[in-house]
Amino acid sequence: MSNNRVCELLEIQYPIIEGGLAYVGNGALAAAVSNGGGFGVVGSAGRTVENFCREIKLAAEQTELPFGVNFPISQHADNDKIVQAILDHKHLIRAVSISAGNPRPYIPIFKDAGLKALVLTSTVHQSLRAEQAGADLVVCEGYEAGGHLGPAEMTLFSLIPQVVRVVSIPVVAAGGLSDGRGILAAFALGAEGVQLGTRFVATTECEAHDAYKRLLLDADDDATTVIERSIGRVTRVLKSQYVDDILAVEQSNPSVDTLLPYIKGRNKIAAIDGKTDAGWLNCGQSVGLIDSIESATSVVKRLVQEVQLLASGDTLDVFK
Ligand SMILES: Cc1cc2nc3c(=O)[nH]c(=O)nc-3n(C[C@H](O)[C@H](O)[C@H](O)COP(=O)(O)O)c2cc1C
Repeated sequence: MSNNRVCELLEIQYPIIEGGLAYVGNGALAAAVSNGGGFGVVGSAGRTVENFCREIKLAAEQTELPFGVNFPISQHADNDKIVQAILDHKHLIRAVSISAGNPRPYIPIFKDAGLKALVLTSTVHQSLRAEQAGADLVVCEGYEAGGHLGPAEMTLFSLIPQVVRVVSIPVVAAGGLSDGRGILAAFALGAEGVQLGTRFVATTECEAHDAYKRLLLDADDDATTVIERSIGRVTRVLKSQYVDDILAVEQSNPSVDTLLPYIKGRNKIAAIDGKTDAGWLNCGQSVGLIDSIESATSVVKRLVQEVQLLASGDTLDVFK
């Protein structure tokens, strides 16, 4: 798996990227992913500028290997301040993953500062536009993923081969990948790397509350659902009584005004404070594969071993 275009671009050993993780993508987690040979990413969503800067510095203290940051455009009150914080720390980071908005104005700013630009997309059209705007790679996220999703609701299986056909920059697959089988499948579809989110929440370094991590361990394949469709957004979360209440409001009285009290600030309450009956939790569909809370460094190493075993075994002999 090593020595492909994603590894060269990010200067990493294995093309396994940590997705931006709102509230829970802390510096220690990013460092642990990078220390395993993957590419750790410090999240900015849900953080003050000061806290974001502190987590970047913490990551840099805990790894000598490359890592990056996530910049979800629509998630900040003041994007100028976040961009400035990223530029102020450009000597510590290798790349910015840009998501949740139009990346075009930001790509040249980051690239002029010597950073690589990773752009999150969820359709062929978006991927082409990202390439035209100068993205170094696209992370194509399928409908299986945890968190905010693209409105087209395309599954990874259909999305990746269609994007790979038309762009020439590397394509990284995201959504529903938590084991070696999924990663190998993503490569078979044409991806040159993978991005994982939910799997990295269930790690010792992640600052998510233990209650959140325990729920991930207990969750089965059908444990997730989608909220916010009634207000034009698509967000994959863990099912719960609280989420049922949100869905009931979406059915009976859907509007931004009625939903906002259930949504705003309520991810933090559950994910960080552990009050899982008073808020919602992002979670992807492959959560049923997660059965241990371990170091993110070990997760990366084990995923690599799983891929290596599968690729060298006789799984595909039937086609020989
Ligand atoms: C807890 C959580 C928070 C997330 N927050 C962000 C975010 O702030 N920015 C972003 O670009 N993507 C975010 N995502 C999406 C991830 O970066 C990643 O693409 C996705 O989790 C991949 O799907 P998976 O969860 O099935 O592995 C989040 C996902 C999760 C699970």
